[in-house]
Amino acid sequence: KQTNVIAPSILSADFARLGEEVDNVLAAGADWVHFDVMDNHYVPNLTIGPLVCEALRNYGIKAPIDVHLMVKPVDRIIPDFAKAGATVISFHPEASEHVDRTLGLIRDQGCQAGLVFNPATPLHYLDHVLDKLDLILIMSVNPGFGGQSFIPEALNKLRQVRQKIDQSGRSIRLEVDGGVKLDNIAAIAEAGADTFVAGSAIFNAKPYSDTLAAFRRRLAG
Ligand code: DX5
Ligand code: ZN
Repeated sequence: KQTNVIAPSILSADFARLGEEVDNVLAAGADWVHFDVMDNHYVPNLTIGPLVCEALRNYGIKAPIDVHLMVKPVDRIIPDFAKAGATVISFHPEASEHVDRTLGLIRDQGCQAGLVFNPATPLHYLDHVLDKLDLILIMSVNPGFGGQSFIPEALNKLRQVRQKIDQSGRSIRLEVDGGVKLDNIAAIAEAGADTFVAGSAIFNAKPYSDTLAAFRRRLAG
């Protein structure tokens, strides 16, 4: 298991002041920026694209940008995000005709590659691609919106994936996304996650430094 990473989802940030919001949350102790891309087709919502990712880089954001693509088809947008400064690019296997090819494309573009599992997506997609993965993202809500409640079955899935990663001996991050709060992050870590996305829990409470410190305390046990 790798060092814990907290990745605030900017979906719940104030988009009118996005650069400042990202600066503030990083200064408050966040590690990564989680960047949710929704296309109103694969998921029922429409958000932001490579233009905004590039704008954050130009604004001076240096932290890793963790791009979560909820977009179908997915391949076309990958080079654009790589050019825009993405660090990690993750996609849903249902959104790709050729999962192995899409993972290869992400790494060829110089980014780290992640595969995302919806609550009802089976884990067998992992069976033949572990060597092409830098991150596995387990959704603990159905994708599309911030502020939904954590689906407890995700804990079982995290335990299963943790076992697969450990058995593989590879350094693959295990990320969780959806409904992560102060009262469940310890159980989520215990199930094997090392990378925690939180949107509403962080951006709906001020100051951000208090929430991030409280998350760290619960992660430290
Ligand atoms: C949902 C997004 C999440 C979302 C999380 O489709 O992938 O990243 O912003 O928000 P919270 O933490 O509020 O559930
Ligand atoms: Zn996300």
